[in-house]
Amino acid sequence: MKIKVIHGPNLNLLGTREPEKYGAKTLAQINTELENLAQELGISTIEFFQSNIEGEIVDEIQKAGREKFDAILINPAAYGHTSIAIRDAFLGVSIPFVEVHLSNIYKREEFRKRTYLSDIAEGVITGFQSESYMFGLRALKTLVDSKR
Ligand code: DQA
Repeated sequence: MKIKVIHGPNLNLLGTREPEKYGAKTLAQINTELENLAQELGISTIEFFQSNIEGEIVDEIQKAGREKFDAILINPAAYGHTSIAIRDAFLGVSIPFVEVHLSNIYKREEFRKRTYLSDIAEGVITGFQSESYMFGLRALKTLVDSKR
């Protein structure tokens, strides 16, 4: 089973970026925890990608399609609220994905309440800080197993 994890813009700042909203863990710590959980769940390949550039995220989704990844775990960050290009990339590769957010986007500003991904995602997990990613990985594992 091959899982790709994609982190959107500004998530490279985790640890120091608004910790009251996003928690105190760095992106490297979250990736290590995901790697450990993947091992525990028997996921053979988990790869990580972060970019602040929309087109690079589109490229990475297309690459995951070519390389036959089974599923994608994505925190699109602000691009979730703005990017039709990222939505179209997912529609183009048809890889199942789960959308995660550290903060609860429904408890925040109006403009964060809609994302261009949530209606085409397998599911959305929002508001559990770094645990959102862990729940998301567990969900993807169950999903991929159920499709086999
Ligand atoms: C976020 C929520 C987004 O609204 C915001 O732009 C982010 C992070 C989250 O994980 O809570 O950058 O995706």
